[in-house]
Amino acid sequence: MSPHSTGVFVFVVLVAIVHWRAPPGAQARLIQKELLSDSCPPPQLALNGTETVEGDNRITQDYKQVREVKFFGSIGPLGEKRLCKIKCIGGQWVGPLCVNQQGNGRFHPLFRSCKLEYINPHLLVTFRNVSIHSAGWVFPHGAKLHVRCRELGLYKLLGAASTRCQNGAWSTRLPSCVPTTLLTNFTEDAPPTILIRIPSGSASVEPAGELAVFPGSTLHLECLFSRRLGSPDWTWTSPLGQYLTGWAIASEERDWKYRLSIYYSKPQDSGTFTCATPRGITNSISLHVAAIHCEPISVSGMHITVRVEGTRLGHTAIFQCPVGFRINGTANITCQASSKWSAPVPNCEPVRCSSLDTSAVLYEPHLQLEEHNSSYGGRAVFSCAWGYRLMGPPGLECELSGNWSGPLPKCVPIQCPPPVAPIHGHLIQSESAGMDGGRYAVGSLVQFACRGAHVLEGEASIICTETGYWSHPPPFCKPRCPYVGEPDNGSVVPSKFAYEPGDELQVICNPGFESPLEARPKCLPDGKWSVPLPHCTNYSQI
Ligand SMILES: *[C@@H]1O[C@H](CO)[C@@H](O)[C@H](O)[C@H]1NC(C)=O
Ligand SMILES: *[C@@H]1O[C@H](CO)[C@@H](O)[C@H](O)[C@H]1NC(C)=O
Ligand SMILES: *[C@@H]1O[C@H](CO)[C@@H](O)[C@H](O)[C@H]1NC(C)=O
Ligand SMILES: *[C@@H]1O[C@H](CO)[C@@H](O)[C@H](O)[C@H]1NC(C)=O
Ligand SMILES: *[C@@H]1O[C@H](CO)[C@@H](O)[C@H](O)[C@H]1NC(C)=O
Ligand SMILES: *[C@@H]1O[C@H](CO)[C@@H](O)[C@H](O)[C@H]1NC(C)=O
Ligand SMILES: *[C@@H]1O[C@H](CO)[C@@H](O)[C@H](O)[C@H]1NC(C)=O
Ligand SMILES: *[C@@H]1O[C@H](CO)[C@@H](O)[C@H](O)[C@H]1NC(C)=O
Ligand SMILES: *[C@@H]1O[C@H](CO)[C@@H](O)[C@H](O)[C@H]1NC(C)=O
Repeated sequence: MSPHSTGVFVFVVLVAIVHWRAPPGAQARLIQKELLSDSCPPPQLALNGTETVEGDNRITQDYKQVREVKFFGSIGPLGEKRLCKIKCIGGQWVGPLCVNQQGNGRFHPLFRSCKLEYINPHLLVTFRNVSIHSAGWVFPHGAKLHVRCRELGLYKLLGAASTRCQNGAWSTRLPSCVPTTLLTNFTEDAPPTILIRIPSGSASVEPAGELAVFPGSTLHLECLFSRRLGSPDWTWTSPLGQYLTGWAIASEERDWKYRLSIYYSKPQDSGTFTCATPRGITNSISLHVAAIHCEPISVSGMHITVRVEGTRLGHTAIFQCPVGFRINGTANITCQASSKWSAPVPNCEPVRCSSLDTSAVLYEPHLQLEEHNSSYGGRAVFSCAWGYRLMGPPGLECELSGNWSGPLPKCVPIQCPPPVAPIHGHLIQSESAGMDGGRYAVGSLVQFACRGAHVLEGEASIICTETGYWSHPPPFCKPRCPYVGEPDNGSVVPSKFAYEPGDELQVICNPGFESPLEARPKCLPDGKWSVPLPHCTNYSQI
């Protein structure tokens, strides 16, 4: 339940508009109008909390002949449904008018609502037995809030215990809670703390701060005051009551506990019990003794188990859910003076973790869900789009707390390190799409070339693969002697494109020609020939 910060009014289910020509009995009634001259434009309505704009296809029906629209309004922070209507008068929508819950069927204008701006953390504010934990709630006209200090007796309420919304304003300011002696080191100017002990019987602290007690209970009200500063005084409003008062007897208590005891409480004991210090500073407990019973607890849910103390005023019922389920509602409830339990019987709902379907994609566009089971014990398994690698655990588990076992993993681009250029060579293509800080994205292609008298050995081009490694190691540039061509009137053996260091060339001359035998070119380690290629010369010319 969330506070409605905007005004009183949220139009909820506009069945009227949606099922326009619904048969009688539906929540719509149209009254035909003879005169079309002062018809109204389509009304500005919020459908289920979302405001509609003119032209919204849910309300584009022709409004020219409509004089009245009925709908259910959702009023106040608890979303109470009331039949409401707006009327078309003189070309304008007037209203809304709503039926009171007391229900004589008459429509009344809605008075202005009130907003609860701030709640002191020591205050417990309740509205129709629902405690209001955060400020910002908006209450309808007439709403009555009960207020008490959370720790009855430990703080003294200063101000009225209830307030009512009257056409936009609260009837009284919210009270405050003053700390008492136990919290102020027993200073003399603090109201005395009153501790409540109920050794037998049962009691409930009511929304307005009253202590409601089942008859027959025994109560000790302990007024805490420093005995060396004097004795406090107990007074009470119940006219017939006679109560034992005095300092406690046990040695560890007798210097600071001034006690009033009520044995076997009766309805006549109802009233206000006030402890006053010698300086006249007081603190009070309001007692209401009544033989009240609540309805027996009946649990209908499948999994829920309950331990019920009883059905008397002040008895509690404590609910539990099995592992994998959690309480939806209040786990322990008390029988209250209204003869109602302090909260409805809860149910067990399966623990579920938040769905990752959308958040995962918003958070990390390259993240893909392989498996997604958000039940307790279920798993979410992730993968990344092509070219990306998971950083973090590949799976999460939905834990008992309803949280995933860790944060969502990330997808980081897979990159290969810059390849090493071979000695006597270089990269032909060093820039690449997706290159980032000298690193290469998956799919990047790099080519190599060798300089001068060097020849590539290995792959001339390599590719960055999904492993984050290159498809092949970079090539080497090996020194090679070049092919020098054929001599005139002869040939060279062996005949190759390139020669390794150490290779020798032999020149074979055509018949009638000859070359000098001793001059055999040898391939040197630096890729050069030891001597130039000899010529083949005509015998007759030698
Ligand atoms: C409004 O919400 C109710 C309940 O969630 C639903 O049944 C109804 O169809 C909704 N109406 C529109 C107009 O969205
Ligand atoms: C809430 O408390 C009021 C009295 O304070 C009582 O009349 C009413 O029945 C209670 N409602 C529920 C649902 O407990
Ligand atoms: C109360 O007294 C104790 C010890 O004497 C001290 O530590 C503490 O600060 C006091 N508290 C207040 C609120 O004065
Ligand atoms: C019931 O709940 C209240 C607060 O939620 C707690 O203070 C109290 O001790 C609980 N009672 C039992 C019997 O668990
Ligand atoms: C929680 O309880 C409320 C009120 O009984 C019920 O409307 C709602 O469906 C429950 N939620 C789940 C998840 O069971
Ligand atoms: C989800 O996980 C839970 C716990 O492991 C299991 O019991 C349930 O069958 C799973 N649901 C699906 C639809 O797989
Ligand atoms: C679950 O998550 C919420 C919000 O992130 C956090 O406040 C809470 O402490 C977590 N619960 C557990 C048991 O980790
Ligand atoms: C020998 O070489 C010269 C020069 O290339 C050429 O002119 C001549 O025809 C060649 N002789 C023979 C017999 O091939
Ligand atoms: C070699 O030279 C002589 C004279 O110059 C010539 O007659 C002869 O034909 C030549 N031989 C060849 C094979 O060319």
